[in-house]
Formats: sequence, structure tokens, C-alpha cells
Amino acid sequence: MRVNPVLKWAGGKTQLLPEINKRLPKQFNTYYEPFLGGGALLFSLLPSSAVINDLNSELMNVYKCIKHDTQFIRLLKELDQHQSLHSKSYYYLIRDMDCSPYYKNWRDYERAARTIYLNKTCFNGLYRVNKKGHFNTPIGTEKYKKLYDLDNITNMHEYLKNNNVKILCGSYSSAVKDAKAGDFVYFDPPYDYQDGDGFTSYTTDGFTKENQVELFNLFKELSDKGVYVMLSNNNTDFIRDLYKDYNIGVIYAKRAINHKGDGRGAVEEVIITNYSNS
Ligand SMILES: C[S@@+](CC[C@H](N)C(=O)[O-])C[C@H]1O[C@@H](n2cnc3c(N)ncnc32)[C@H](O)[C@@H]1O
Repeated sequence: MRVNPVLKWAGGKTQLLPEINKRLPKQFNTYYEPFLGGGALLFSLLPSSAVINDLNSELMNVYKCIKHDTQFIRLLKELDQHQSLHSKSYYYLIRDMDCSPYYKNWRDYERAARTIYLNKTCFNGLYRVNKKGHFNTPIGTEKYKKLYDLDNITNMHEYLKNNNVKILCGSYSSAVKDAKAGDFVYFDPPYDYQDGDGFTSYTTDGFTKENQVELFNLFKELSDKGVYVMLSNNNTDFIRDLYKDYNIGVIYAKRAINHKGDGRGAVEEVIITNYSNS
């Protein structure tokens, strides 16, 4: 069964899967992905036991609705409706719904369909919210594409429903609290930036250097427990110095999304592991 991400996400890992696959542990028990985003690695591995998490509640609501039977069917109907009604004025109408006091009464599958619709029709698939937490990305300039691929979203539904996949929405640290020796944790946090000019506002909170240090401490704690840990980040002096006692592989990535829509091109990233699989 093949499953591809249903959302375009900043930092999406699809293009880096060959490099990540080379560095996976040979075998592991439960898979943890606490900064899930579009979930490129999860959906390429399709592990039978997994714990997935992201701080973004609109995002995790999409996976919950894809997983659950009745919600799933309703979600598809909602998506078909957005598909047939799409226009510039419809985009802004749906986008600004989260400013309405009634938005909190929306059903989960309606919110999930809105998230997928906005993701597919907004500028560059960029998830950006203002200080009040309202989605504020303008409409995209690309030609309108189908909102979803029925076979793919059905496969994702089957995978999430028929396996032991726990869907959480909170901080990365609580998501991995049950990880044990032999489990595998893949951390793909908001990236560190050398010049402070990167796109780190995936949610209303940015991810600071202090957050990178907290994450490093957790990486170390999990390592001491015998958990296999892999982490992706930018190849900055700060990150290389922090993880200097671990295995650091440097790879090249094409950047598709940043906060300005520029800054594209090949950049160096690192894949850090606490184990060697050679
Ligand atoms: C680099 S993206 C992950 C990309 C993902 N691997 C993919 O393939 O699409 C980082 C994710 O971390 C999430 N995030 C930011 N701060 C977080 C936190 N404190 N705890 C959990 N998730 C967080 C963001 O919402 C974002 O989805």
C-alpha cells in the first residue's frame, strides 16, 4: 500500500527520504514522530505501532478525521463541496471563518476539510497565522489542483485505522514520554537559522535557540535510555556544536517554503543519529 502526505508542509521531508532511509535503525519497535507536519517519513514507513504528534491542532485534527470512519466519509463530502465552489472570494470567505465567534462550533471534519482546502489553494501551501492565531496566508498563484486523491486518502484512512497509531496534539516532549529502549524517535523540529532569518512561526510560537537546547537535552535523555533517535536540522554552527558527540551526516536539500516565499535553492541540512547503522 502506498500513502503520500495529504498536505504540503514547510520542511516536508519527501525529497530527503532516500537520505533518511539510508540512516534508519535496522529494526525498531514503536515509531515516534513528535513534530509530524505532513508526515512524509511516517507515511513512507507505515509502522504498525506509532505515536504521532504536532503542536498544530488544525493539522492533527486532519489526521484524526482521516482515521475515524464516519468523520472520514463526511470529510470527503466537505472536500468535494470546497472543490466545486472554489474561487477567489470563496477562498477568503473560508480562510476568514476562524475570525468568527461561531468557528468554535464547527465540527471536526468541517475544520479538517477547511485545513486541506486552504493548504491546497493558499500561497505555497504555507501555514501561517497572525498573533490572534487566525490563518492569514493569501490565496495561491498556482493553477487550481484537485484537493485530494481518493485512493491516497483512502489508503491513509486504512493505515491509520488498522494499525496501532496514537494521534496526539501537544508538545514534543510529552509525546515521547513513553519511549523505551528499542523504540525509534524521529525529531524534525522547526529549524535553527544561522542569521535569524528563517521561517520558524509554524504556530503562533516560534522555536528559539533555548528550545533547540531543550530538545537536545531530551535527545540525550532518550539516548541514555537506549532509544534510537534521529534528528533533522539546518547545518548551522550552533546545531553542529550542540550535537558534536553524535553522528552528523550533511545532506543537500531544496527549500520549497519559507516565510517570504523566497530563500529557495539548495541548502545544507544535517541528519543526526545516536546510533551507527554501518
Ligand atoms: C519541520 S516541520 C516538520 C515537517 C515534517 N517532518 C514533514 O515531513 O512535513 C516542524 C513541525 O513542528 C511543529 N512544532 C513546532 N513547535 C512544536 C512543539 N513545541 N511541539 C510539537 N510540535 C511543534 C510545527 O507545527 C511543524 O509542523
